[in-house]
Amino acid sequence: MKILVTGGLGFIGSHTVVELLENNYEVIIVDNLYNSKIDVLDKIKKITGKETKFYQDDVCNKMALEKIFKENKIDSVIHFAGYKAVGESCSKPLMYYHNNLMSTINLLEVMKENNVKNFIFSSSATIYGNPGTSKYVEEMGRGKTTNPYGTTKSMIEQILEDLYNSDNEWSISILRYFNPIGAHSSGLIGESPNGIPNNLMPYILKVASKQLEVLNVFGNDYPTPDGTGVRDYIHVVDLAKGHVSALNKIVKSGAGVYVYNLGSGKGVSVLELVNTFERVNGVKVNYRIADRRPGDLAEYYADPSKALKELGWKTEKTVEDMCRDSWNFMKNNINE
Ligand code: NAD
Ligand code: UD1
Repeated sequence: MKILVTGGLGFIGSHTVVELLENNYEVIIVDNLYNSKIDVLDKIKKITGKETKFYQDDVCNKMALEKIFKENKIDSVIHFAGYKAVGESCSKPLMYYHNNLMSTINLLEVMKENNVKNFIFSSSATIYGNPGTSKYVEEMGRGKTTNPYGTTKSMIEQILEDLYNSDNEWSISILRYFNPIGAHSSGLIGESPNGIPNNLMPYILKVASKQLEVLNVFGNDYPTPDGTGVRDYIHVVDLAKGHVSALNKIVKSGAGVYVYNLGSGKGVSVLELVNTFERVNGVKVNYRIADRRPGDLAEYYADPSKALKELGWKTEKTVEDMCRDSWNFMKNNINE
């Protein structure tokens, strides 16, 4: 079975390609290298011993997509390609709406023309908005998003539902990720954000490796056990496996729109993550308490029971694994 993976050289895409290849799927990647490097392709081969066909194209370029579909008999598509930086989306909203929406609409149009109707989409817990409760359940539906990035995810979920309502031959899975961190245990692939990171684990890595001086912990006066923000961190390899489970589901169960939270179900605070990182890796992470970051919620985590019930999927890796694998990747790639 041939799977087209858009954004397949990125952080989550590359780990998912590895899992797909290890489950004997044939993979075709399309990525424009906006936020990834070509050497990830070799690293995927090193890990799996398998070849992956690669197209360096922009998913917003419909002609390029048409060519890919013409040259390959694609069965299903997993769509990771998109921009993901919340802060940047506030300063460059048009860029975000253009890339995230156009890539998806083009892709769906070309799929429809080629009668390929199995689709998996990377959504985010951010679509829940601020629902006034910490445990997020799929049935709660979409809330008011707080930034253009989140709005693109919410809009695409709506587009996918409308598409299915217009043609119920589509088999669509919407996966709402919580906070993906960690890296492949080989240390070959992981997340390498450009510049100064915004997200917690990439920032911890820069401080632990002495590339940045100190981590600002954004607030210690939240109504959480230690006062710092609580999130549901998920190891990227568990997340990648969730895609293989979702793919099996849409292929087996046939038409429908299947929405799943992919998280561990467990909340971890900023200080718990920092302390665990220091303990398992034996390194110091200098931190100081800073003001709250505007827009942050105190606490949220997934109710992952629907994914367990319907996909037979749950997270296997611990916060210790996430910290160890993130650091291992950092140490291996510090000079790249
Ligand atoms: P990433 O930036 O590492 O990967 C995205 C990949 O898509 C990159 O390789 C980039 O070069 C490529 N890309 C972007 N626009 C493209 C285009 N128009 N055409 C072709 N390639 C394009 O991001 P990631 O963390 O792997 O995230 C993957 C998906 O999951 C994104 O859609 C993101 O919004 C979503 N998501 C990520 C997180 C997270 O915390 N990482 C959380 C929730 C949802
Ligand atoms: C962010 C995105 C969200 C996305 C998610 C996926 C924002 C506002 N939201 O969520 O849309 O789906 O990533 O990973 O960016 N923290 C610090 N110091 C730091 C960085 C973070 O204390 O330098 C704290 C935050 O206040 C928060 C926690 O760490 O409590 C996690 O933050 P982060 O990694 O940025 O993720 P989210 O904000 O949860």
